[in-house]
Amino acid sequence: MNILILGSGGREHALAWAVLQNPKCDKLIVAPGNGGIETIAQCAAINAEDTGAVLDLCAEEAIDFVIIGPEAPLAAGVADALRDAGILTFGPSKAAAELEASKSFTKAICDASNAPTAAYARFTEAGPAKDYIRARGAPIVVKADGLAAGKGVIVAMDQETALAAIDDMFGGAFGGAGADVVIEEFLDGEEASFFVLSDGTSVLPIGTAQDHKRAYDGDEGPNTGGMGAYSPAPVMTDAIIRKTMEEIIEPSMAEMAKRGAPFQGVLFAGLMIKDGQPKLIEYNVRFGDPECQCLMLRLGAQALDLMLATAEGRLAEMAVNWADDHAMTVVMAAKGYPGPYEKGTEINGLSAIAETSHEMCFHAGTTRRDGKLLATGGRVLALTARGDSLQEARDRAYAMVEQVDWPEGFNRTDIGWRALSD
Ligand code: AMP
Ligand code: GLY
Repeated sequence: MNILILGSGGREHALAWAVLQNPKCDKLIVAPGNGGIETIAQCAAINAEDTGAVLDLCAEEAIDFVIIGPEAPLAAGVADALRDAGILTFGPSKAAAELEASKSFTKAICDASNAPTAAYARFTEAGPAKDYIRARGAPIVVKADGLAAGKGVIVAMDQETALAAIDDMFGGAFGGAGADVVIEEFLDGEEASFFVLSDGTSVLPIGTAQDHKRAYDGDEGPNTGGMGAYSPAPVMTDAIIRKTMEEIIEPSMAEMAKRGAPFQGVLFAGLMIKDGQPKLIEYNVRFGDPECQCLMLRLGAQALDLMLATAEGRLAEMAVNWADDHAMTVVMAAKGYPGPYEKGTEINGLSAIAETSHEMCFHAGTTRRDGKLLATGGRVLALTARGDSLQEARDRAYAMVEQVDWPEGFNRTDIGWRALSD
């Protein structure tokens, strides 16, 4: 079958790698792709949010199945347009993608289905928002309602920071996303990422992971898209997974179906776990990046079968064939990220990395020019390894990092510290 993956990050490189392990894949195109993806698949230079261009590409290349990686094309309705055109597609409709695109929508789904989440209030004006913060006190969490590329959340440990965040958001610091603000109770505990597939009727858990959001070692510095991850997450015990499914995921999916917006694709629940109780921080309607890199290395070829069954509404007949293994990914980012950073710096040393079924250098933001590999993004490489233990996965991932010759890059040296120190 001919498959198209939309996106250009480390997540999409990992998806492409997993899809290629499966003999069902005859031809793979990734649009737009990146400097790593182009070494394993054909890349097409189109904008993944441009519905017309995506449909044209599907027609030209006789595409049978489309996998949508990032949230932006989903929120733009690309999955709807593809399905309307009769093309099998993995990814939620625009209506179901509201679970990520609008924080207040997710809160309403939680309310309607009684799912445990942080108490919250929604504001459209600065004055009442500030009164609420003064009445509640800190710590408190201020969120722009809408897609803000992971930057619309301020976890304020003191009242002044929270009040300043209100001024920023209503002052337009986050563009249109700040016109509505959600203020939330601060949740204490251990964070985990939980991934399930849903075909609109059935739900199948496919893995757990822990991300590292802060830029620097010791969980210091600004929030990023994620500097490294590992899977599975020890905090997600069988009992907590069951509770999460029964109290959060299944009721939310049932509520979406009831509203006429059944969710089809991968649902990524960001959870906070304390004293054996999971609470929902947020939903995303796509794989996490870099969590996906760990999940794909662990799932391998079956990832395509699972995504196909999701798109075809056959999830009830599927099971995940788990190996008793661990994976870790270490992100290398351009110095300065998540703030301003230099683009176009040269990366060397990757040819020394043996890419195997347990060690992969996924590219997140690279391009090739005149025979050179250049960094184009904030997050640039995701060195991902698998092992019988987390320690083994970690040692392999950091051995790959050692091979990379890129003076303008940096990485955290403590990915997995929480699980490895237990
Ligand atoms: P989000 O973009 O919603 O994932 O938020 C980014 C990060 O902010 C999360 O991964 C959490 O670390 C933190 N966060 C979000 N909401 C809360 C909350 N209610 N309590 C504590 N931390 C939070
Ligand atoms: N790694 C977190 C995310 O993809 O949102």
